[in-house]
Amino acid sequence: MMRLDRFLCETGFGTRSQVKELLKKGLVTVNGEPVKKPEQKVKETQDVVLCGGKRAVYAAFVYLMLHKPAGVVSATEDAAERTVLDLLDETDRRNVFPVGRLDKDTEGLLLLTDDGELAHRLLSPKKHVDKVYYARVEGQVTREHADRFQEGLDIGEKALTLPSELEILKSGASSEVRVTIREGKFHQIKRMFEAVGCRVVYLKRLSMGTLVLDERLEAGSYRSLTEDEVKELRQFTGLVPEA
Ligand code: URA
Repeated sequence: MMRLDRFLCETGFGTRSQVKELLKKGLVTVNGEPVKKPEQKVKETQDVVLCGGKRAVYAAFVYLMLHKPAGVVSATEDAAERTVLDLLDETDRRNVFPVGRLDKDTEGLLLLTDDGELAHRLLSPKKHVDKVYYARVEGQVTREHADRFQEGLDIGEKALTLPSELEILKSGASSEVRVTIREGKFHQIKRMFEAVGCRVVYLKRLSMGTLVLDERLEAGSYRSLTEDEVKELRQFTGLVPEA
Protein backbone atom coordinates (compact mmCIF):
# COMPACT_ATOMS: atom_id res chain seq x y z
CA MET A 1 0.00 0.00 0.00
CA MET A 2 1.15 3.51 -0.72
CA ARG A 3 -0.24 7.04 -0.59
CA LEU A 4 -2.07 8.06 -3.76
CA ASP A 5 0.01 11.22 -4.30
CA ARG A 6 3.23 9.24 -4.09
CA PHE A 7 1.83 6.54 -6.35
CA LEU A 8 1.02 9.17 -9.00
CA CYS A 9 4.49 10.73 -8.68
CA GLU A 10 6.15 7.36 -9.03
CA THR A 11 4.11 6.48 -12.07
CA GLY A 12 5.18 9.66 -13.86
CA PHE A 13 2.28 12.08 -13.36
CA GLY A 14 4.43 14.89 -12.02
CA THR A 15 5.96 16.29 -8.88
CA ARG A 16 4.19 16.11 -5.51
CA SER A 17 2.72 19.59 -5.97
CA GLN A 18 1.62 18.93 -9.57
CA VAL A 19 -0.05 15.71 -8.47
CA LYS A 20 -1.84 17.50 -5.61
CA GLU A 21 -3.26 19.92 -8.21
CA LEU A 22 -4.48 17.03 -10.39
CA LEU A 23 -6.17 15.52 -7.35
CA LYS A 24 -7.73 18.84 -6.38
CA LYS A 25 -9.12 19.21 -9.90
CA GLY A 26 -10.88 15.85 -9.52
CA LEU A 27 -8.94 14.22 -12.35
CA VAL A 28 -8.10 11.06 -10.43
CA THR A 29 -10.21 7.97 -9.92
CA VAL A 30 -9.44 4.82 -7.94
CA ASN A 31 -11.43 1.78 -9.05
CA GLY A 32 -13.87 4.12 -10.76
CA GLU A 33 -14.42 6.41 -7.75
CA PRO A 34 -13.18 10.00 -7.87
CA VAL A 35 -10.60 10.62 -5.13
CA LYS A 36 -9.24 14.00 -4.04
CA LYS A 37 -7.33 13.03 -0.91
CA PRO A 38 -3.57 12.75 -1.53
CA GLU A 39 -3.17 10.60 1.57
CA GLN A 40 -5.59 7.91 0.40
CA LYS A 41 -3.85 4.52 0.33
CA VAL A 42 -3.77 2.45 -2.85
CA LYS A 43 -2.65 -1.09 -3.58
CA GLU A 44 0.08 -0.56 -6.16
CA THR A 45 -0.54 -3.61 -8.31
CA GLN A 46 -4.26 -4.14 -7.73
CA ASP A 47 -6.14 -0.85 -7.70
CA VAL A 48 -7.05 0.72 -11.02
CA VAL A 49 -5.90 4.32 -10.80
CA LEU A 50 -6.74 6.67 -13.65
CA CYS A 51 -5.44 10.21 -13.95
CA GLY A 52 -7.11 12.28 -16.66
CA GLY A 53 -8.34 8.98 -18.06
CA LYS A 54 -4.80 7.53 -18.28
CA ARG A 55 -3.92 4.42 -16.27
CA ALA A 56 -1.18 4.84 -13.69
CA VAL A 57 0.89 1.68 -13.96
CA TYR A 58 3.15 0.75 -11.11
CA ALA A 59 6.66 -0.29 -12.07
CA ALA A 60 8.28 -2.77 -9.75
CA PHE A 61 11.50 -0.81 -10.12
CA VAL A 62 12.08 2.84 -9.35
CA TYR A 63 13.45 5.05 -12.13
CA LEU A 64 14.19 8.68 -11.35
CA MET A 65 15.50 11.41 -13.62
CA LEU A 66 17.58 13.90 -11.66
CA HIS A 67 18.82 17.20 -12.98
CA LYS A 68 22.08 17.03 -11.08
CA PRO A 69 23.31 20.39 -9.89
CA ALA A 70 26.99 21.23 -9.46
CA GLY A 71 28.37 20.67 -5.97
CA VAL A 72 27.06 17.18 -5.19
CA VAL A 73 28.83 13.87 -5.78
CA SER A 74 27.39 10.95 -7.76
CA ALA A 75 27.54 8.43 -4.94
CA THR A 76 25.13 6.83 -2.51
CA GLU A 77 27.17 7.94 0.49
CA ASP A 78 30.19 10.05 1.20
CA ALA A 79 31.85 10.94 4.47
CA ALA A 80 32.48 14.55 3.53
CA GLU A 81 30.36 15.60 0.57
CA ARG A 82 26.66 15.98 -0.18
CA THR A 83 25.52 13.19 -2.50
CA VAL A 84 22.85 13.01 -5.18
CA LEU A 85 20.77 10.87 -2.80
CA ASP A 86 20.62 13.81 -0.39
CA LEU A 87 18.52 15.58 -3.05
CA LEU A 88 15.78 12.93 -2.92
CA ASP A 89 12.83 12.69 -0.57
CA GLU A 90 13.38 10.11 2.15
CA THR A 91 10.76 7.83 0.59
CA ASP A 92 12.34 7.95 -2.86
CA ARG A 93 15.81 6.99 -1.69
CA ARG A 94 15.12 3.41 -0.76
CA ASN A 95 17.55 1.28 -2.80
CA VAL A 96 18.28 3.58 -5.70
CA PHE A 97 21.78 4.34 -6.90
CA PRO A 98 23.12 6.60 -9.67
CA VAL A 99 23.67 4.96 -13.05
CA GLY A 100 27.23 6.07 -13.67
CA ARG A 101 28.95 9.15 -12.40
CA LEU A 102 29.07 12.79 -13.23
CA ASP A 103 31.90 14.87 -11.76
CA LYS A 104 31.06 17.00 -8.75
CA ASP A 105 31.05 20.15 -10.91
CA THR A 106 29.11 18.57 -13.82
CA GLU A 107 25.38 19.20 -14.13
CA GLY A 108 22.60 17.50 -16.01
CA LEU A 109 20.98 14.16 -16.59
CA LEU A 110 21.51 11.48 -13.99
CA LEU A 111 19.36 8.36 -13.86
CA LEU A 112 18.79 6.84 -10.44
CA THR A 113 17.28 3.39 -10.16
CA ASP A 114 17.16 0.15 -8.22
CA ASP A 115 17.13 -1.84 -11.47
CA GLY A 116 20.62 -3.35 -11.42
CA GLU A 117 20.30 -5.15 -14.74
CA LEU A 118 19.24 -2.04 -16.62
CA ALA A 119 22.06 -0.04 -15.01
CA HIS A 120 24.58 -2.71 -15.91
CA ARG A 121 23.45 -2.73 -19.53
CA LEU A 122 23.59 1.06 -19.81
CA LEU A 123 27.08 1.21 -18.31
CA SER A 124 28.62 -1.81 -19.97
CA PRO A 125 31.67 -0.66 -21.98
CA LYS A 126 30.63 -3.12 -24.70
CA LYS A 127 27.30 -1.38 -25.28
CA HIS A 128 28.74 1.99 -26.40
CA VAL A 129 25.70 3.93 -25.23
CA ASP A 130 25.64 7.49 -26.63
CA LYS A 131 25.99 10.22 -24.03
CA VAL A 132 25.50 13.80 -25.18
CA TYR A 133 27.01 16.75 -23.32
CA TYR A 134 26.86 20.49 -23.68
CA ALA A 135 30.14 22.19 -22.77
CA ARG A 136 31.57 25.67 -22.53
CA VAL A 137 35.24 25.61 -23.29
CA GLU A 138 38.08 28.08 -22.89
CA GLY A 139 39.87 28.30 -26.22
CA GLN A 140 38.79 28.34 -29.84
CA VAL A 141 37.23 25.06 -30.91
CA THR A 142 37.60 24.43 -34.65
CA ARG A 143 36.71 21.90 -37.37
CA GLU A 144 40.16 20.37 -36.88
CA HIS A 145 39.25 19.60 -33.29
CA ALA A 146 36.05 17.97 -34.50
CA ASP A 147 38.11 15.82 -36.89
CA ARG A 148 40.43 14.79 -34.07
CA PHE A 149 37.48 13.89 -31.84
CA GLN A 150 36.21 11.74 -34.71
CA GLU A 151 39.61 10.04 -35.17
CA GLY A 152 40.02 9.29 -31.45
CA LEU A 153 42.24 11.06 -28.94
CA ASP A 154 45.12 10.03 -26.73
CA ILE A 155 43.99 10.87 -23.19
CA GLY A 156 46.60 8.70 -21.51
CA GLU A 157 44.64 5.46 -21.67
CA LYS A 158 45.85 2.24 -23.33
CA ALA A 159 43.74 2.95 -26.40
CA LEU A 160 42.56 6.09 -28.15
CA THR A 161 39.05 7.27 -27.30
CA LEU A 162 36.31 5.88 -29.52
CA PRO A 163 35.18 8.17 -32.34
CA SER A 164 33.04 10.97 -30.92
CA GLU A 165 31.05 13.79 -32.48
CA LEU A 166 31.92 17.38 -31.72
CA GLU A 167 29.35 19.92 -32.84
CA ILE A 168 30.48 23.52 -32.60
CA LEU A 169 27.71 25.84 -31.41
CA LYS A 170 29.94 28.89 -30.93
CA SER A 171 33.61 29.33 -31.71
CA GLY A 172 35.71 32.11 -30.20
CA ALA A 173 38.08 32.81 -27.32
CA SER A 174 35.43 30.94 -25.39
CA SER A 175 33.50 28.25 -27.30
CA GLU A 176 30.30 26.28 -26.88
CA VAL A 177 29.94 22.74 -28.11
CA ARG A 178 27.84 19.62 -28.03
CA VAL A 179 29.80 16.38 -27.72
CA THR A 180 28.61 12.79 -28.11
CA ILE A 181 30.74 10.09 -26.54
CA ARG A 182 30.18 6.34 -26.32
CA GLU A 183 32.31 5.46 -23.31
CA GLY A 184 32.58 6.77 -19.79
CA LYS A 185 36.21 7.15 -18.80
CA PHE A 186 37.01 9.20 -15.71
CA HIS A 187 36.80 12.96 -16.57
CA GLN A 188 36.56 11.88 -20.19
CA ILE A 189 35.24 15.07 -21.81
CA LYS A 190 37.58 17.28 -19.80
CA ARG A 191 40.55 15.12 -20.72
CA MET A 192 39.55 15.08 -24.40
CA PHE A 193 39.55 18.87 -24.52
CA GLU A 194 42.83 19.02 -22.62
CA ALA A 195 44.27 16.72 -25.29
CA VAL A 196 43.52 19.40 -27.90
CA GLY A 197 44.70 22.32 -25.73
CA CYS A 198 41.35 23.60 -24.45
CA ARG A 199 39.76 23.69 -21.00
CA VAL A 200 36.18 22.79 -20.08
CA VAL A 201 34.71 25.41 -17.77
CA TYR A 202 31.11 24.15 -17.72
CA LEU A 203 29.72 20.71 -18.48
CA LYS A 204 26.16 19.44 -18.58
CA ARG A 205 24.87 16.04 -19.67
CA LEU A 206 21.86 16.25 -21.96
CA SER A 207 21.09 12.62 -22.71
CA MET A 208 22.08 9.01 -22.22
CA GLY A 209 20.83 6.44 -24.72
CA THR A 210 17.15 7.15 -25.28
CA LEU A 211 16.77 9.16 -22.09
CA VAL A 212 16.80 12.95 -22.55
CA LEU A 213 17.03 15.49 -19.73
CA ASP A 214 13.64 17.13 -19.20
CA GLU A 215 14.51 20.82 -19.47
CA ARG A 216 11.52 21.65 -17.26
CA LEU A 217 13.40 20.08 -14.36
CA GLU A 218 15.38 22.70 -12.53
CA ALA A 219 18.87 21.84 -11.32
CA GLY A 220 18.48 19.90 -8.07
CA SER A 221 15.02 18.55 -8.86
CA TYR A 222 13.88 15.18 -10.15
CA ARG A 223 10.89 13.18 -11.30
CA SER A 224 9.97 9.60 -12.06
CA LEU A 225 10.47 8.46 -15.62
CA THR A 226 7.26 8.26 -17.61
CA GLU A 227 5.97 4.89 -18.70
CA ASP A 228 7.21 5.60 -22.25
CA GLU A 229 10.68 6.58 -21.05
CA VAL A 230 10.97 3.34 -19.07
CA LYS A 231 9.69 1.31 -22.02
CA GLU A 232 12.16 2.95 -24.41
CA LEU A 233 15.08 2.37 -22.06
CA ARG A 234 14.13 -1.26 -21.52
CA GLN A 235 13.83 -1.80 -25.26
CA PHE A 236 17.06 0.09 -25.94
CA THR A 237 18.99 -2.07 -23.48
CA GLY A 238 17.42 -5.27 -24.86
CA LEU A 239 15.55 -6.07 -21.63
CA VAL A 240 12.32 -6.28 -23.58
CA PRO A 241 11.97 -6.83 -27.33
CA GLU A 242 11.33 -3.84 -29.60
CA ALA A 243 7.61 -3.41 -30.32
N1 URA B 1 33.21 13.85 -18.76
C1 URA B 1 33.76 14.60 -17.78
O1 URA B 1 34.85 15.11 -17.92
N2 URA B 1 33.04 14.77 -16.65
C2 URA B 1 31.82 14.26 -16.46
O2 URA B 1 31.22 14.48 -15.41
C3 URA B 1 31.26 13.49 -17.49
C4 URA B 1 31.98 13.29 -18.64
